[in-house]
Amino acid sequence: MRVPVETKGCQLNRKGDQLLEHVLDQYLQAPNIFKNREALRHDFIPNSLPHREAQIERLGRILASITKGSRPSNIFVYGKPGTGKTVVVKYVLNWFVKKYQGSSVRLRACYVNCRVVNTTYRVLFQLCNSIDARIPFTGLASDEAYQRFAKRLDQDESFFVTVLDEIDSLVKRGDDAILYQLTRINLELRSSRVSIIGISNDLYFKEYLDPRVLSSLSEEEIVFKPYTAEELRDILTERAKLAFVKDAISDGPINLCAALAAAEHGDARRALDLLRVAAELAEREGAGFVEEKHVRRAQVAIEQKRTLEVLKSLPLHSKFILIGVLSLTNLPNVTTGAVYEAYKRLCKRTGTDPLTQRRVSGLINELDMLGILNVRLTSLGRYGRTKKIGLGTSPDVIREAYIDDAWIGQLLG
Ligand SMILES: Nc1ncnc2c1ncn2[C@@H]1O[C@H](COP(=O)(O)OP(=O)(O)OP(=O)(O)O)[C@@H](O)[C@H]1O
Ligand SMILES: [Mg+2]
Repeated sequence: MRVPVETKGCQLNRKGDQLLEHVLDQYLQAPNIFKNREALRHDFIPNSLPHREAQIERLGRILASITKGSRPSNIFVYGKPGTGKTVVVKYVLNWFVKKYQGSSVRLRACYVNCRVVNTTYRVLFQLCNSIDARIPFTGLASDEAYQRFAKRLDQDESFFVTVLDEIDSLVKRGDDAILYQLTRINLELRSSRVSIIGISNDLYFKEYLDPRVLSSLSEEEIVFKPYTAEELRDILTERAKLAFVKDAISDGPINLCAALAAAEHGDARRALDLLRVAAELAEREGAGFVEEKHVRRAQVAIEQKRTLEVLKSLPLHSKFILIGVLSLTNLPNVTTGAVYEAYKRLCKRTGTDPLTQRRVSGLINELDMLGILNVRLTSLGRYGRTKKIGLGTSPDVIREAYIDDAWIGQLLG
């Protein structure tokens, strides 16, 4: 988020170091809101996870079989974003690892985020690292890497639990041989056992999986439902106790964060983001506590940040179309034909081959679905109907998104 710089009370001709002294003074004088900022970070694992007792218990029961020497079933965990899948699985696995540390039960755990570690080889590299089986960063065939992993793991004589978070990324990339290997590895091992906890928020991804891998992965399934507003309120209240000093927050702003996040799709990450950004806004204005107005401003800021990210990641031709519409916003009625002409002019200026009008029309519809453009069908009486096109996003946000873009920035003038 772009932070407005507080210049009130600063003389513009102050030297840089004086200005920074002043900023620091102001910062130190402002009342403290945070006791522990870390408690609002996405990867923070709290001791208490309200409304996930059932899932913690299920996972616990499955993993408890290690105590009696049998391999825990593979588990497939799914649910929408922000429903606590990652935090609950990490919490439970950490608990078991700590519990068995130094005991006769040998438990090894390895967490892999497949969105980041997104090829079979990289996953193997990380699995090997976790059991001190060194393989080179590149240069080995995957099969060879797998053999080294299996051999070293068998010498370890342990239960090996691997979490494959965002497992759909591997499958969508088409680089998922590791799933075949891991779901069959127990047939090869003599002294160790492997269990897999696969996590995904894409409920349709199961359809892409090989049925044998799927049935092996989902020996057990655990579903995480979206949180209700009341559940989010409890989660935020617990986290707020860790994050804020006494009296820096009250029920009102917490309830508002919970209600806004529940209205989307019960996403705890979204609720926590609202609370954190609201508190940062309050802190920046020197207020000693968070109010509902800060939450509302946080919502706008988060929304804007999201739009900026969408704008920046658009394909090049969609960006041209958008800048084309931007250049026409002074005209009363912007038609598809006018946008296409503006688009072609921009292509010419940048030496890019234009797409056909039909393709451009398709891209305009996609931008409409993203809410970046507004497309309305209007009647021309007996001449039929035409599309009227306008911006769905503020021109300032579009400029901010592209001003530093070497390619698109030059077209903004
Ligand atoms: N019951 C809970 N109690 C406390 N914090 C929670 C709870 N559920 C989720 N959170 C917090 O909400 C955020 C999102 O949770 P998490 O990362 O586990 O979601 P997820 O289901 O894995 O989402 P995604 O599918 O997008 O990966 C994290 O910061 C997590 O700590
Ligand atoms: Mg997750």
